[in-house]
Formats: sequence, structure tokens, C-alpha cells
Amino acid sequence: MPARPFHLAWFGAGGFGVKSWGRTWSGRGGSDWADPQLWIDIAQALERARFDYIIIEDSSYVPDAYGSSFEAYVRSATATPKMDPSVLAPLMAHFTTRIGVVPTLSVTEYQPYMLARKINTLDHMSRGRTGWNIVTSSSHRAAQNYGRDELFEHDLRYDMADEFFDLACALWESWEPDAVVLDEETGTWGDHTKVHTVDFDGKFFRCRGPLNAPQSPQGRPVFVQAGGSPRGKRFAARSANSVISGVEGGVGAMTQFRADVRATAQEFGRDPDDVKVLFMTSPVLGETDEEAHAKRERQQRFAEAHPELGLLHLSRHSGIDFARWDLDEPIPETATTNGHQQMLAQAIGRTPREILRKGTGSLEFVGSPDTVAAQMDEVMQEVGGDGFLIANFDLNRRYVSEIADGLAPALQRRGLTRTDYGSAHFRDNLLEF
Ligand SMILES: Cc1cc2nc3c(=O)[nH]c(=O)nc-3n(C[C@H](O)[C@H](O)[C@H](O)COP(=O)(O)O)c2cc1C
Repeated sequence: MPARPFHLAWFGAGGFGVKSWGRTWSGRGGSDWADPQLWIDIAQALERARFDYIIIEDSSYVPDAYGSSFEAYVRSATATPKMDPSVLAPLMAHFTTRIGVVPTLSVTEYQPYMLARKINTLDHMSRGRTGWNIVTSSSHRAAQNYGRDELFEHDLRYDMADEFFDLACALWESWEPDAVVLDEETGTWGDHTKVHTVDFDGKFFRCRGPLNAPQSPQGRPVFVQAGGSPRGKRFAARSANSVISGVEGGVGAMTQFRADVRATAQEFGRDPDDVKVLFMTSPVLGETDEEAHAKRERQQRFAEAHPELGLLHLSRHSGIDFARWDLDEPIPETATTNGHQQMLAQAIGRTPREILRKGTGSLEFVGSPDTVAAQMDEVMQEVGGDGFLIANFDLNRRYVSEIADGLAPALQRRGLTRTDYGSAHFRDNLLEF
């Protein structure tokens, strides 16, 4: 039994769009994708498995980075369609009671007041189970949908995010916690002396405030963040309650990444235990280890036979058109991006074919639920914490059940993950251990 269990969260890759279609276990995924029921089913299954939270990924543009055309993206339903995660989030919260629900909202697309108001509303409606996946966007195409020619420069986006974050927090706290008095005898619903303007006048944003609603159950939402570049990591260490990472390079790189985030959090005067670093992975499970390995081999063969499907993501995140790239030509040192810098840094020196062969995230786990649980235990003991972010880019109900009803109970039997939630609020559960 470990001193501290670890956390599990889910990354809803591809956002509120087509999750799986045209494959053996897709079901009606190609036509029913706009029905929120799949997400409600997933949230309920993960709550049964005692996951801390589920992220709804997002971006708001139709990509054309690969082949300079929408064609491949629309044809394969890759990264498009995507609908608004903040409309889906309250439904998932309504049909669950404990799991945290984390929509993705971008600081370069929202105005701070609008975002603070939306998140405050969601936290009230979910009774304290709302998080915010803080992103800065990564494509000029998104910026062009919001009236600009280009996305702001990479590090500048994080400077803006720092200021956006401070303003949003001021708005969330513009009503003191006891501003609502509900005194029927004096006819006083609220005490106006406890409601304050924020009068924020920053480099990028201005806002008078106050927010036009009282503090929500958590006050501030749970902050989730994924920046992996040096500047991204600083932003995360300053603000995030949970950092999600796809860092590659094995257990050593994971240990180093977590140590960096924790040390930087401490520099900001924070308790490093208040920042839970979760590593992305997509375990491949079978009844037996042999079956799981055979499944992984089939997945690899599929990826090699359909390289375009993997390259679509690589292109849209880096802005590099891999339709014009030789699959066996290594990505040179000179490659740069204003998009996902950590991803490109990890791709340099490798060929697209090598990248495609690799599984999702930081580490591969392949085996029966019991084998994978044992491997996860070993990795977490070495890394020191704090858990895993499960993701799958071809997501169907069968996979969700393999994780929720196969892997999660195997982890619980070993005392590695929680068997119940200790609190009603998302942040309290996340910081429980
Ligand atoms: C696990 C994970 C999930 C992410 N989810 C989103 C998302 O939903 N929307 C988005 O625009 N960016 C998303 N990103 C991108 C990050 O927010 C960030 O822009 C990216 O990691 C590049 O940051 P960097 O340049 O600091 O490395 C995600 C990244 C990772 C690793």
C-alpha cells in the first residue's frame, strides 16, 4: 500500500465532436456525435471509477494546416466538428454528483469578464465541481475567427494569461463570501457593502466589476493547465491546481518535469502539493497480456496504414504542413512554431513515421488490467506522484468501460487510487492527497 494514492483524470480529446466513427466499436458515433449522451455516459462511468475530473478539449477553428486545405480534416472528422464545451459541461455535471467537469476556454478568445461570469455560473450550477482548462490557443486560424490576422506571439500569450488570470480571480472574489445574508425580517437579500468593484487597469485588460453574481461554492474554479514550454510551465506553476503533461522521454523526463513544476510553484510562494501533475497516457487493455499486445500491434499497423490521420494533428499543432514532408525525413533543428512548442521540441530529430508509431502521451501501458495497474504503480513510485490523465483519440464506450470497469478496480484493489470521494467540492477532492 503506497503512502499516498494517485489521481486519475480523463482528457476528452477532440472535444465536443465526433469521437469515433467507421471503426469496429464506434457504434453510431458518426451520426450521434452532437447528442450529449455519450459525454454523460462517460462522466457517469468515470465517476463510478472515482476519477477526479474530465476535461472537454476545445479549439475554435476548422484546421487547414495539412495540405493547406480543410479537406483531410473534414473528410476524417479530425479536430472538426467541435461544439462549445461550456454548453456541454452543465449537462455532465447535472447527471453526476462528485466528478469535476473541466471545459477548455481560451484567454485569447474570451474577454475576462465573460469568462469569469460563465465559470462562476457553472460552478454554482455544478455545486462546486467546475474547473477551467486554461489555454492560450495555438493557431492563427483561431485568431482570424476573432478579428485578428495572427495569434499573439507564444510567450506574450502567457503574459496575457497571467493578467487574465489575476483579473478573473479578482472578479470571482468581488463579492465577499458572506455578501448574501437572506434576512427576511429586515428585507435584506444581500449586503451591498460586501460587493466591490475591481477597477482593474492592466497592460492587456481593463475591467470595472464587480461580477454580477455572488461567489460560487468553490470561489475560484479548479485551474488545469498544459503548457510544457519553459514559459508555459511558469504560468502553470503560478496558477494551476493540476498540470496535465504529455512530456516524453520516459520516467526520467516525467520525474524532471514534475520536479520543475513543483520547484517553480515554490518560487511563487505556493505549496507544491497544491499542484497535481498528471501524465497523459492511453493504456491498451486486454483480457490477457497477449491479447493486449496483439491489440497494440493492430493499432500500430492501422496507424502505419493511415499516416495521414496522425499527421493531421501534428500539422495543426505545429503549423507545419506534413502533407509535403517525406515520412522518413527527420524534422530539423531549425523547425520553429508559434503553436505547441513542447510538442515540436519533442519531434525534432525524429521522422514523422517514428512519431506515428509511438503511442499517445508520456508512456505506453499495455496488458491486462492487473498488469497495467502494477506498471502504473511502479512508474508513480519512481516519479513521486501525482497520477495519470487517460486519453484516447478513437474514443468509444467500450474503451471507457475497459478503463472504468477493468483498470480502475484493479488500481483500487492495490490501494493505488481512491475508492470514494472525501468531499463535495472538486478542489477539496483533488487536494485530499
Ligand atoms: C494534455 C494536453 C491537453 C491540451 N488541451 C488543449 C485544449 O483543449 N485546447 C488547446 O487549445 N490547447 C490544448 N493543449 C495545448 C496547451 O494548452 C498548450 O498550448 C500547448 O501544450 C503548448 O504549450 P507550450 O507551447 O507551452 O508547450 C493541450 C496540451 C496538452 C499537453
